[in-house]
Amino acid sequence: MLFDAPDFDAHEAVHFATDPRAGLKAIIALHSTHRGPAAGGCRYWTYADDAAALTDALRLSRGMSYKNAMANLPMGGGKAVVFKDGAKTDALLEAFGRAIEGLGGRYVTAEDVGMSDADMTVIARATKHVSGLPVAGGAAGGNPGPSTAEGVFVGMRAAVRHKLGRDDFAGVHVAIQGLGSVGGGVAERLAAAGARLTVADVDEARAGALAARLGAKRVPVAEIMTVAADVFSPNALGAVLTQDSIAALDVAIVAGAANNQLATPADGARIHGRGILYAPDYVINAGGIINVVAEYLGRGDAASVAADIAAIEPRLAAIFAEADASGQPTDAMADAQARRLIGR
Ligand code: NAI
Repeated sequence: MLFDAPDFDAHEAVHFATDPRAGLKAIIALHSTHRGPAAGGCRYWTYADDAAALTDALRLSRGMSYKNAMANLPMGGGKAVVFKDGAKTDALLEAFGRAIEGLGGRYVTAEDVGMSDADMTVIARATKHVSGLPVAGGAAGGNPGPSTAEGVFVGMRAAVRHKLGRDDFAGVHVAIQGLGSVGGGVAERLAAAGARLTVADVDEARAGALAARLGAKRVPVAEIMTVAADVFSPNALGAVLTQDSIAALDVAIVAGAANNQLATPADGARIHGRGILYAPDYVINAGGIINVVAEYLGRGDAASVAADIAAIEPRLAAIFAEADASGQPTDAMADAQARRLIGR
């Protein structure tokens, strides 16, 4: 069931952790520790079945290996999923912390979907291998959302320069899907830079408030992926780029933070075939992990973290140029580079 699972990619280890009294059921997948301890957040989620949870852990941990390597961090890749079966109690979070501590520093956690910086504080009662804790202003660390948003903004600028030949966002039309911690920050930055925004979020109140504040146009969530615009920016769910949705896109660029945007590897070739420039998700959305790792390693003032996030722009520019030169899809170029960096 495990070694022949479709998403098993010679993961170094997959740990199943339980603590019935605390209500804990978790999977901690270590894809690679080639570059350092496996770093990647923990997702708190309700899964249809155990196989779906395992698939998520396997895919997300491999993605973290790629992301951390491409961001030039001295970390490997891992990810944890914690089953959302009952209440998220302190006892459950502490039990999860003990499971991490038992791995002796080979896995370092942080927040992901369903986990907050406050939750990290509870996990930290049981392990020191946790990051993304709330911090005072100025220091590296804390909620990674704003850092991720900054990385997406500069990465999108590289895409706009490459594809549209423009150095700024004045009048560039961006359709944004999801206006949460990351998407909201991307929208703010783009509006300040003079972009024209069309936005959608399942949270109607959130979309309404943001649209009013930034002068953005709102559309129903079912329409955001077919808006005629320069850029589509996915900042909500993964797997939104499918055969059907790619065929319906009416943009020159896809650049956003959502993890695992391509539903299947074939979709990278499809988007390339349509002449749409795709910014590989794990390259453009690395701002948060850059911030979180600086906090964990205890090295990195806000200025050096900002410089590392700014480096996402030239890194993507290089991938776009190499993809053009080789005729390869951008995601394939990035995957090949990442695999070299993790010794695969
Ligand atoms: P969030 O939970 O703060 O925001 C997500 C937003 O998307 C919410 O406002 C939600 O209402 C909305 N949404 C959900 N389904 C939608 C749909 N079908 N259509 C339109 N809107 C929808 O999450 P966050 O932190 O902003 O993350 C967004 C994406 O970026 C996720 O895929 C996450 O995995 C990824 N990501 C986040 C990082 C971070 O630092 N927070 C780092 C790297 C990736």
